[in-house]
Amino acid sequence: MLILIAGITGNVGKQAARAGLERGHEIRGLGRSPSKLDPAVLSGLESFVQSENYYDISALEKAVKGVDAVICAYGGLAELALEGQLLLLRAAERAGIKRFLAASWNYDWRRISLHDQEVYDPYIAFHAQASLSSSIKTLHILTGMLAEVFFGSHKERGFTPADDGVWDPEPQGADSTGPNQRARSMDVYGTGNEPWS
Ligand SMILES: NC(=O)c1ccc[n+]([C@@H]2O[C@H](COP(=O)([O-])OP(=O)(O)OC[C@H]3O[C@@H](n4cnc5c(N)ncnc54)[C@H](OP(=O)(O)O)[C@@H]3O)[C@@H](O)[C@H]2O)c1
Repeated sequence: MLILIAGITGNVGKQAARAGLERGHEIRGLGRSPSKLDPAVLSGLESFVQSENYYDISALEKAVKGVDAVICAYGGLAELALEGQLLLLRAAERAGIKRFLAASWNYDWRRISLHDQEVYDPYIAFHAQASLSSSIKTLHILTGMLAEVFFGSHKERGFTPADDGVWDPEPQGADSTGPNQRARSMDVYGTGNEPWS
């Protein structure tokens, strides 16, 4: 099927593109910066629609035309999670799309309420608005915390440290989470039952 990945140039978007291509899907990308993509991935795309920002309606219309499904992999900013996703959802509705995977690779926000944890408020609000008013029943993947995030650092393009353990701000190659990375470990404290925001 032809799948649009919005935010394809990000951490999750790049991995989703590679996974889709490996499974024989056609992948269309939407983003502001095609240069962030590995040339091998970029050349394998059905097309890349360049946008100015998340409210670039003409780019959204072009991006959703003729696709079978949308994967939203926008970054975790509040305005992307709410306004950005709603504008993309409305464009998908107008194009008659039924499959829309929302950018919700995060904690199970169904178990909390608005204002419990502000970072989840736009995701809860998006889901509530889509449920009330959209012809699309949005899909969500709730992952909990991705452990790799703990191993990333500011300015690093991937999530994990280099083989020598030194943070590399410009890791070579697209696969900074690949099998050649050094062994990872995580310290766990407490009993596992303490509340943790
Ligand atoms: N569960 C976890 O532990 C965990 C960890 C990481 C991420 N996540 C979730 O996964 C999702 C994707 O995260 P990510 O780390 O892959 O995101 P990311 O790399 O920070 O960003 C994804 C994309 O968002 C696009 N973007 C940013 N600002 C934009 C704007 N103003 N207008 C249009 N597009 C914009 C960028 O594309 P361009 O620059 O090309 O436009 C960027 O490539 C988020 O919902 C995040 O919360 C969850």
